[in-house]
Amino acid sequence: MTDEEKLSAIRKYSFNKMKQDTTGHNFDHIQRVIRTAKQILKKEPADHLITLAAAYLHDVADDKLVSDPAKLEKEIYDFLKGLDMTDEQISEILYITHNLSFSKSLDNPPKLSLEGQIVQDSDRLDAIGAIGIVRAVYYGGNNSETIYDPAIKPREKMTKAEYRNLNDETIINHFYEKLLKLTAMMNTPTAKKIAQGRHQYMLDFLDEFKAEWDANK
Ligand code: ADP
Ligand code: NI
Repeated sequence: MTDEEKLSAIRKYSFNKMKQDTTGHNFDHIQRVIRTAKQILKKEPADHLITLAAAYLHDVADDKLVSDPAKLEKEIYDFLKGLDMTDEQISEILYITHNLSFSKSLDNPPKLSLEGQIVQDSDRLDAIGAIGIVRAVYYGGNNSETIYDPAIKPREKMTKAEYRNLNDETIINHFYEKLLKLTAMMNTPTAKKIAQGRHQYMLDFLDEFKAEWDANK
């Protein structure tokens, strides 16, 4: 089986797992992450198969999305084993998908390989800019968040546990607590460059939002 054939099977598997998602992680998100990862791969000496496989699979066993992530990780292991991937390749892919998330970076950030860093950058680039704004609104609406409440101040520092248990989150707070922090956290020069324009777009959006909110007060 060629790497192309393996990736095509992994793409199909990811599509079937993600197509019903309504939390902003559907297959469109995966396709954008894949396209960004391919763009970064042009500049970085990373393993394409590991990077793209982890990008396709990065949200399949997310503990926010499935009740038993360990069961799904075992399923992914068996699936990749069936594609003749080695144990070493599979553990690298599962390590990346397990350690990618923003909340995991809050306490003791796990060390990621270059392949992991590329997937993380690509995932994070999809959380900022115009698409990031819409995803935050979509996620917030789905989770009954208030749009904005000036009385609720952004929490600058949070532990992983606190971040996961927010119950008074507003959509605008999410920008200060996560989205505006991502640009400084990008790993690769390519991602840092793309992030800058998207970051500025979010700052402009927040200025306009607050100006409209406070208009005629
Ligand atoms: P991923 O792991 O793909 O980066 P997450 O599961 O953390 O994404 O979030 C999915 C999308 O929803 C992202 O765009 C993220 O910024 C947004 N999001 C996550 N948590 C919140 C929240 N509490 N309020 C608004 N948007 C959120
Ligand atoms: Ni993702």
